[in-house]
Amino acid sequence: DVMDRSHDGRQPRANMQELDAALTQLADSLMPTAAEHQAQLDVFEGVKALLQARYPGARVHLFGSVANGLSVRHNNDIDVCLELEGVDDQAGKAEVAVAVGELMEAAGMAEVLPLPKARVPVVKFVAPQTGTKCDVTVNNVLACINTKLLADYCAIDPRLAPLVALVKHWAKRRAVNDPYRGTLSSYCYVLMCIHLLQMRPTPVLPVLQQLPPTFRRTVGPWTCEFCDDVESLRGFGAPNRESLAQLVWAFFEYWAWRHNYSHDVVCVRLGTCLHKDDKDWTRRIGNERHLVCIEDPFELSHDLGRTVDRQTRAVLHKEFTRAATLLRDAHDPLDMLFASY
Ligand code: CTP
Ligand code: MG
Repeated sequence: DVMDRSHDGRQPRANMQELDAALTQLADSLMPTAAEHQAQLDVFEGVKALLQARYPGARVHLFGSVANGLSVRHNNDIDVCLELEGVDDQAGKAEVAVAVGELMEAAGMAEVLPLPKARVPVVKFVAPQTGTKCDVTVNNVLACINTKLLADYCAIDPRLAPLVALVKHWAKRRAVNDPYRGTLSSYCYVLMCIHLLQMRPTPVLPVLQQLPPTFRRTVGPWTCEFCDDVESLRGFGAPNRESLAQLVWAFFEYWAWRHNYSHDVVCVRLGTCLHKDDKDWTRRIGNERHLVCIEDPFELSHDLGRTVDRQTRAVLHKEFTRAATLLRDAHDPLDMLFASY
């Protein structure tokens, strides 16, 4: 009997079918309902109308998780990009962030907070009727393009979205999803999940930026090229038969015991790991420490792990190891795995 086989320490002890059923059910319960999704789209339409009244002719885009199909229920926020001609430098974007803050204040939005000095100038506020948190950025073209890349990955294999939902849920519960406090952004966790699925011995996802490009945009110094013909790639991952539970296990096992933190750079663009030397990410420069390295797929100078310091790297590694150890050794690991920190 499979369940009586002695534990070899390299696979979870739990019954994988049962674990898979429980994780699948949890992932489903984390997905927003159609009504919740619609409520967020309605808030977006309201914000868009306000912006277009103030900036006639401007285009307004929804990006981030609500747009790429990777949103989880407890996270009630939307990311909005205002596209304005002639506003290209940091100072110009900062000015608009402040002006949009005043506009939203006047429109009755709550908790309006402009952050003009951020790497990407932004104004944050809350739509009072629904409590939806909104981030408005200006000419954040790269974010709109990477949202499309993530959406396209999502459409190729149905295992990406539930894997991301579980990892985001875990990261929130374990308090390791806060780039302002030295841990990792949701966007970074999504890239880590895509990378894992690209790297399975039988891959679950292709490397869209290595296929003949059908989508091309240039943004400042960055060339964004990838294959967005998802129709022809649906079923790409079918030869890989791994279950959600096996992939969740693989994710934590990788970050606990396989990732080489001193050398590796996770690179979704190439579907492999680069060496830190290849990127010259070998030492601290200013506030960029490069202790955990995840390359942005388009803005190649951007290390999404740059916010991690020695102390928070230790916290992250401890949490990955805790998760992997629980999955390996516990008969019924889920309550502990997702326990609030
Ligand atoms: N983004 C980015 N670079 C970052 C962080 C974010 O380009 N360093 C962009 C990405 O387009 C991402 C969007 O901003 O999709 C929103 O980021 P974030 O809120 O971290 O990701 P979500 O997937 O929206 O996660 P959540 O569901 O937690 O809101
Ligand atoms: Mg978001």
